[in-house]
Amino acid sequence: MSQKRVLLIIGGGISAYKTPELVRALERRGIGCRVILTHAGSQFVTPLALASLTRDEVHQELFNLTQEARMGHIELSRSADLVVVAPATADLIGKLANGLANDLASTALLATDKPVMMAPAMNVRMWHHPAVQRNVATLAGDGVSFIGPDEGAMACGEYGLGRMAEPEAIATAIEARLNAASSKSQSLHGKRALVTAGPTLEPLDPVRFLSNRSSGKQGYAIAAALAEAGAEVTLVSGPTALNDVAGVTMVRVESARDMLAACRNALPADIFVAVAAVADWRPEVAAPVKLKLKEPDAAPILKLAENPDILSEIAKPGPNRPDLVIGFAAETHDVLAYAAAKRSRKKCDWVVANDVSGDVMGGETNRVILVTQDGHQDWPLAHKSDVARRLTAEIASHFSS
Ligand code: C5P
Repeated sequence: MSQKRVLLIIGGGISAYKTPELVRALERRGIGCRVILTHAGSQFVTPLALASLTRDEVHQELFNLTQEARMGHIELSRSADLVVVAPATADLIGKLANGLANDLASTALLATDKPVMMAPAMNVRMWHHPAVQRNVATLAGDGVSFIGPDEGAMACGEYGLGRMAEPEAIATAIEARLNAASSKSQSLHGKRALVTAGPTLEPLDPVRFLSNRSSGKQGYAIAAALAEAGAEVTLVSGPTALNDVAGVTMVRVESARDMLAACRNALPADIFVAVAAVADWRPEVAAPVKLKLKEPDAAPILKLAENPDILSEIAKPGPNRPDLVIGFAAETHDVLAYAAAKRSRKKCDWVVANDVSGDVMGGETNRVILVTQDGHQDWPLAHKSDVARRLTAEIASHFSS
């Protein structure tokens, strides 16, 4: 098989100084690199260092006659299997989100027909700026995947989210992405997968509800990874702020009962992954909940009714039971013990357990334990999309064995 090659676009952030390490980490994985270095990027890392490590010329100018004659910028953008922007500055993110192309890096990004991954790096307040978040959401909706950013101390002296992910983590994500795109891991081709994600919303009246802090990010990432591996995916999602996943049949619901009905509707499936944080209880209200409750004189007492357990329902033995049923277990302590107990109680094949005592809910990263019939595997902290790809690889190998 020919060597995989990445087009690495280096933006102008201090973490550009880590990109020679990234090139080396890719080389250790047998992945080649061609580099575009922006003018700002060249303030932090030299073209000579990158040219020496990649044994290739470093591309810097859009209108450079000699370089354009050797390899045109359009060809450059298409010559790789994957385009990676690291560090992805607010400027590069903003340009691609808005379709701008006024230098070699942004032109190559707009001209490519290859998947794009970005490792953002910027000051914490820049990262949280609504304009940047809007651009990130636009790009995520366009299919760009993000690696990080990480949380930690920054070169500018501040602390928070915005540090570029470490070169090893970026290289691992790139490798997983390249593997997922290769024909080997298209092994879920022909399989149908059903995924639940997000919270459920249980109405009290037309304006009030009970819900939880689930963002849906992990479930959406799993749906995307399964689709990337060739599966035909239906994602039944509770209310989230996330964009639809490209290439996936989306069914948006609110309550647990609606989620169960939508899941049943999507059967038969070969794989069921229950990631949704389904509310175990709903307010017991006189149906339909059309009239707003009036403030009572004293604090009201909420009566709750038990919701259906979607995972247990779908896992019940029967002709429609998916071959592989995977539940999630969010725990704050004794994670492994509770997860193992949940696996047998809910009759699912595997349980993905995570510790939610930190900021997993809504956060970008996750640290999970996969509990199967054969034992358990502790996975290191990783971006939710990497957890999704690794789980997808496990699912694919389950079906191939
Ligand atoms: O019992 P617990 O809520 O911790 O179980 C978590 C697992 O069960 C998750 O996979 C979740 O999606 C699923 N679940 C469900 N329906 C419920 C409650 C949980 O499908 N009503």
